[in-house]
Amino acid sequence: MASLPAHIKAIVFDAYGTLLSIDTLNTRLEKHFGDQAKAINQVWRQKQLAYTWLRGLMREYKAFSIVTEEALLFAGNHLKVSLSRETIIDLVRGYFELQAYEDVQPTLERLQETHSLAVLSNADPVMLTAAMTHNQLSPYLDAVLSVDTVRQFKPSPAVYQLAVDRFQLPAEEIAFVSANTWDITGAAAFGFRTVWLNRFGKTMDTLGYSPTLSIQSLSELG
Ligand code: LAC
Repeated sequence: MASLPAHIKAIVFDAYGTLLSIDTLNTRLEKHFGDQAKAINQVWRQKQLAYTWLRGLMREYKAFSIVTEEALLFAGNHLKVSLSRETIIDLVRGYFELQAYEDVQPTLERLQETHSLAVLSNADPVMLTAAMTHNQLSPYLDAVLSVDTVRQFKPSPAVYQLAVDRFQLPAEEIAFVSANTWDITGAAAFGFRTVWLNRFGKTMDTLGYSPTLSIQSLSELG
């Protein structure tokens, strides 16, 4: 068990890759693209994130569902597969219905006894609430926080501030859990204690911040 510092009162989770498995899109992608599914999923996700950072720098916010669609169009062009309107709608819909990892529900159920819990995501409220509802996670969460409120994407400090404002706690009393290394770095720079969920043996970014804790499964968190 990886113990959180005793003064931590709230735990805030990233959504995609942390609570929700992007790999579960592969089945839906396979129906359209066969054995190119994994490659498309990978390019799609990388471009989706890159577009949030670019839109942040350009100060041209758009809802994450739109950014997700724009990134899918890139993935299709890049891998030279044509995407009908129906296919695009079906695949973006997949982001509203991603499956949670198996360790999520039992961990949230346990941690809600001791901490306030929230999800804080780039996803717009409809997209985020749909995924939480789809996985029956809403009862465990005190707050579902979307960047849409401030119309900026992570790792803007304004986004992490949403959790401070919601819980009325200093940043150092909040633990932020993410599988995304750049999100851990952003949250640490903001002042959160951080828990890096390294499910797949990735490498931490070298931007001058180390996570407070590193775990491989959410069930280690206590
Ligand atoms: C999120 C993405 C970045 O949920 O994983 O915010």
